[in-house]
Amino acid sequence: MSPPSMLGNRKDGSEIAVAENYADINWDELGFSLVPTDYMYVMKCAKGDKFSQGSIVPFGNIEISPSAGILNYGQGLFEGLKAHRTEDGHVLLFRPDENAQRMKRGADRLCMPSPSPGQFVNAVKQIVIANKRWVPPPGKGSLYIRPLLIGTGALLGVAPAPEYTFLIYCSPVGSYQKGALNLKVEDKLYRAISGCGGTGGIKSVTNYAPVYTAMADAKANGFSDVLFLDSATGKHIEEASACNVFVLKDNAISTPAIDGTILPGITRKSIIDIAIDLGYQVMERSVSVEEMLGADEMFCTGTAVVVNSVASVTYKETRVDYKTGPATLSSKLRKTLVGIQTGCLEDKKSWTVRVDSTI
Ligand code: COI
Repeated sequence: MSPPSMLGNRKDGSEIAVAENYADINWDELGFSLVPTDYMYVMKCAKGDKFSQGSIVPFGNIEISPSAGILNYGQGLFEGLKAHRTEDGHVLLFRPDENAQRMKRGADRLCMPSPSPGQFVNAVKQIVIANKRWVPPPGKGSLYIRPLLIGTGALLGVAPAPEYTFLIYCSPVGSYQKGALNLKVEDKLYRAISGCGGTGGIKSVTNYAPVYTAMADAKANGFSDVLFLDSATGKHIEEASACNVFVLKDNAISTPAIDGTILPGITRKSIIDIAIDLGYQVMERSVSVEEMLGADEMFCTGTAVVVNSVASVTYKETRVDYKTGPATLSSKLRKTLVGIQTGCLEDKKSWTVRVDSTI
């Protein structure tokens, strides 16, 4: 066991001893459910001000007014990113600056102040260092980091909250989904309004609960997840409940374009670059249901799901099965991405950020 390193950023200025050994949990049983860790990060700011000083505090419940903006009017965003432990004992973040930029865009849309990208990445590093013993051993999973930006100030009328909280907590996780997906196309409920102007393209907390009815119905009928269509025509595919989608036909990959409805996924963006480097043609454009049903392969991407094959899609009475298994493009893309994220493959694009014990 290495000696503890120190992190000097408690509210009262005292240093926190960070144990570098592993938490005492069964690392082989990680799924995607909350495993509370030791610390979280909290930074507050009044409306019209800038975030300045945050601190690491013990993980736990937060006190909030019943009339907080987030509770009443859903003024809130979340992010998701992962830290991986490398074979040689370092911890790597994957493109945290992209999450910072996305949170900033979402904050502008929802009238909230946001931490600067520097503050965001620094806070993420602090949370990883403070919770280092919760970063799973190589090959056992990752530390899922969940930054929140929420209106915590009290108000009654519909308006931006008078106070905001930027909070980060984390949890060790394994796989989000077990095996390739069987998707049910939802043709009555929509995830987000189509086109620009809505909030489908930001990580607003309000984008997620509206998928539950369709998801519950799909799961009750034996499906793994739901695939949503565009609300304007009902003819084009958009996203599954928590991930972007791609189809492959011959050497061409297509994925719905970022048009205001589709979440600009960081995994999505990275997979596009990796696929181009592997010699595939990648198109960001509308993908019709018919085209999807005629594809050779289909897969989903997201921070939580990473890259996962779609085994089948059911649209009304039609079910189509796709290629799955180790010979798929999806498997190749996943291996490449995870290889970079875990430090096993060369990071030619400088996507990873090493978290040192002190920052
Ligand atoms: C992520 O992949 O980080 C997500 O946002 C999915 C989450 C809703 C589980």
